[in-house]
Amino acid sequence: MKKLIATVLIGVMALSMVACGSKKTESTEAAEAAGGTLVMATNAEFPPYEYYEGENVIGIDAEIAQAIADKLGMELKIEDMAFDSIIVAVNSGKADMGMAGMTVTEDRLENVNFSDTYAHASQVVIVKEDSTIASPDDLSGKKVGVQLGTTGDAYAGDIEGATVERYNKGFEAVQALSQDKIDAVIIDGEPAKVFVEENEGLKILDEAFTEEDYAIAIAKDNDELLEKINGALAELKESGELDKIVDKYITAE
Ligand code: ARG
Repeated sequence: MKKLIATVLIGVMALSMVACGSKKTESTEAAEAAGGTLVMATNAEFPPYEYYEGENVIGIDAEIAQAIADKLGMELKIEDMAFDSIIVAVNSGKADMGMAGMTVTEDRLENVNFSDTYAHASQVVIVKEDSTIASPDDLSGKKVGVQLGTTGDAYAGDIEGATVERYNKGFEAVQALSQDKIDAVIIDGEPAKVFVEENEGLKILDEAFTEEDYAIAIAKDNDELLEKINGALAELKESGELDKIVDKYITAE
């Protein structure tokens, strides 16, 4: 009988320890994310802004987002998805913000708000080293590859007589170019540099197609978050932290 009581007691103690244990982690987690979770929708196919290193999404956007979350006392959660799903995710509340080297455009402003801009960018043209295409003007009538739903996609559609081939990933467009399936790729300048470096026989035309700016997309009804993010961005710009993150990933020529 004594033995039984002892066993039951030990059992109860063990159980309550487990319960305490889990309670403790819960409250620690809660403390860590006192401000809640900041869910970032992105498309991690876009080095040096967002890409995989093993299981983790790293890059300029991922680090700026982490710095913003830290400033707001929030825990960052990154959700990787198709690029053209990001604005939908932000609008439906599935994500709090969209951060994906996303260019501010009139069209997008109809559906979401944008934070202050945090990077300047351009769309460039990648061709084969021996291509006869020497400037963006030579693209008419050509087969042009783009990532689906990007500004490159929109511009390519405006080129007279060009056939637009849309890929889920920018890298797939570059591969198609390497394999002579298309004549050129229109894509953002920084990922273009990375992809050209990784694939032999390609070059970037000197003349850029457009100039644009990146910002963070936030739901139209979430002015509170918009203000907080703009505040955090301003601090990161002011302190030089933002430049430091960029310099880590982009080496000045
Ligand atoms: N800047 C371009 C745009 O906003 C391309 C962005 C693609 N980003 C990405 N993470 N795949 O349309």
